[in-house]
Amino acid sequence: MENFSYCTPTRYLFGRGVEDQVGKLTAELGASRVMVVYGQGSVVRSGLLTRVIESLTDQDIMVETLGGVKPNPEDDLVREGIAICNANAIDAIVAVGGGSVIDTAKAIAAGARYDGDFWDFFCGKAVVQDALPIGVVLTIPAAGSEGSGNSVITKKEGKVKISIRTDYWLRPKFALLDPELTFTLPPHQTAAGIADMMAHIMERYFTPTKDVVVTDRISEGLLKAIIEEAPKVIAHPHDYEARANIMWSGTLAHNGICGCGRKEDWTSHAMEHELSAVYGVTHGAGLAVVFPAWMTYMAEHNPVKIAQFARRVFRVISTDDYAAAIEGIERLRAFFKSIGLPTTMAELGISDPDIPLLVERLHRNKGEVLGVYLPLTAKETTEIYQLME
Ligand code: NZQ
Ligand code: ZN
Repeated sequence: MENFSYCTPTRYLFGRGVEDQVGKLTAELGASRVMVVYGQGSVVRSGLLTRVIESLTDQDIMVETLGGVKPNPEDDLVREGIAICNANAIDAIVAVGGGSVIDTAKAIAAGARYDGDFWDFFCGKAVVQDALPIGVVLTIPAAGSEGSGNSVITKKEGKVKISIRTDYWLRPKFALLDPELTFTLPPHQTAAGIADMMAHIMERYFTPTKDVVVTDRISEGLLKAIIEEAPKVIAHPHDYEARANIMWSGTLAHNGICGCGRKEDWTSHAMEHELSAVYGVTHGAGLAVVFPAWMTYMAEHNPVKIAQFARRVFRVISTDDYAAAIEGIERLRAFFKSIGLPTTMAELGISDPDIPLLVERLHRNKGEVLGVYLPLTAKETTEIYQLME
């Protein structure tokens, strides 16, 4: 096992009606002037935004709002948010939504406490060393941003989608998780969220680090729980218990607990971020295409852990590592299909993918060599994109 440092300062409140405590928890942060960030309307239609604002104003907190965050959120709205924060002496941000909204809130939080342009953090010119405190009311279990220290923003000019990771500053101070708020999710978003949380576990699971039995077993347990609960939420969107189990899995998948003591890969995410940036696809749906292709390449070149995944998560019995790995990948693809996800670029809506462009951008944005399970150069990532066609 590797040495590690693990800090999860986020306070989670989970269950029916917890969102009504947003005002009280924000006041406990010492905040009195708050900006509420939200997306393209789902929280307006459900009435959640109104309830959040009421809960805040009941605590005599002054509220500014910033709506309109798009999936795969962009830099211009972040700058708009930073300007609002500075003009109104905002002292905390409340994100009401999913990963795109939370990531926008995080980028604003860091940018509002920084003299230069916030993109400096994303292009590697600066490191986040301060941020406004952030609270979250989560409406979609998927990105895990409610418990992560990460933010992913796309720079509109050149469509550059970059993820940054902080140990502490961008972790929310609190996250309110009410499974009932996820009842209104369209099946496609529910399924994409499921693929994303599984990918967050698998990016950590496929590691070269030896002797990580505890985090292997935590990861396998989470994956099995997700596979068990997923069909229930797809068939019965109002199944509270299944929604609750999926929601908590999404947080545990990405709050760092599965990665303690191990090197993490993240090549599949880097490859998917290029698909989202160039073709605008939903992140989780993109991962359902990328991950099995990456695993297929690995089955040929480094099958051991893929075979372990197949045997422990999908109960594959073959004793041959390559055969077990291939069968596990087929089961994973079949699972994704069963919940309505695409598993090829064509099914993702990309009929004529420009693979040289994807590969060129991937290595320009993420470096010449990617990943740790088996480090990959442009030659190998080209092969993996070809496996998605
Ligand atoms: O915008 P609204 O109208 O709210 O609709 C959203 C959006 O269209 C809708 N939605 C959310 N909750 C809903 C709902 N519709 C009905 N009922 C509800 N309860 O769902 C759509 C997708 O929302 P989005 O926030 O984009 O989803 P997600 O949570 O999957 O976030 C995706 C973004 O997170 C990034 C991704 O790259 C992508 O940009 N990621 C962030 C990570 C992090 N910060 O740690 C890690 C991830 O790997 C990921 O890269
Ligand atoms: Zn993800």
